[in-house]
Amino acid sequence: THAQISSQLERAPIVPLVSGDDPDTAVRTAEALRDGGLGVIEVVLRSAGAQRCMEAIVERVEGVIVGAGTVLALDQARSVEASGAQFVVCPGLVDAIAEHCLARDMPCFPGTVTAGEVQRAHAIGLRVVKFFPASLAGGIPMLKAFGSVFRDMRFMPTGGISPDNLGEFLALPQVLACGGSWLTPDDAIAAGDYAKITRLAEQAVTIARQVR
Ligand code: 3PG
Repeated sequence: THAQISSQLERAPIVPLVSGDDPDTAVRTAEALRDGGLGVIEVVLRSAGAQRCMEAIVERVEGVIVGAGTVLALDQARSVEASGAQFVVCPGLVDAIAEHCLARDMPCFPGTVTAGEVQRAHAIGLRVVKFFPASLAGGIPMLKAFGSVFRDMRFMPTGGISPDNLGEFLALPQVLACGGSWLTPDDAIAAGDYAKITRLAEQAVTIARQVR
C-alpha cells in the first residue's frame, strides 16, 4: 500500500476529503474525484455514517485508494482497518495510534505543528506527517523551516489549502501532497453537482502539473 499511495500521489499530489453520512453520495463523490484524476481519498470520521461511507467507497469504487481521516482513538484505527481503510490520518500525533499502524505496516499520517511533534513522529519511525492546520500553523515559511531541519521527513499540509495557494505548497520539495475539503464543497454535493467536483479535481491536477 505504501508504494501504491506514493505512486498515486506522484501522479496527483492531492488528497481530497470526503465527509458525510450517506454512502451513495460518498460513492458518487469518490467517483467524481477519481474521474478528475485524484486517486487517493480520505473519508473523515466526523459523523455517525462516515465509516459506512468509507466502506461503500472501498466496496464500490474502482481505482481509488481510500483512507480514514479524523481518527482520534486506537479503537477507530483498528475498526477502519477492518473495514478496508488503506491509510489512517489523525489531526494530531498520538504515539499509540502511530505505533499501532507502523507495526501493522498501515500508512499513518498524524498531524504535527511543532518541531517537537515532528521530531517525536520521526523518533517513532514515521517519515511522512500531516501538517495541520497548515495555514494557521505557519504555512509555507514553517514548512521551509521544517524542511531545512528534518531532511528525511515529508509533509502533507492540510487546513486552509485552496486553488489559490495549492501551487505554492506543492512547489516545496518537502511537501508530498496537499489535502483539503475545497474539492468537495457542500453546496455542490447538496445540489448533486458531481461534475463540479470533477472540475475541481482537474483544476487541482493542472495546478500540480505546473509546479512539479
Ligand atoms: C483536515 O481534516 O485536514 C481539515 O479539516 C482540512 O481543512 P480544510 O477544510 O481547510 O481543507
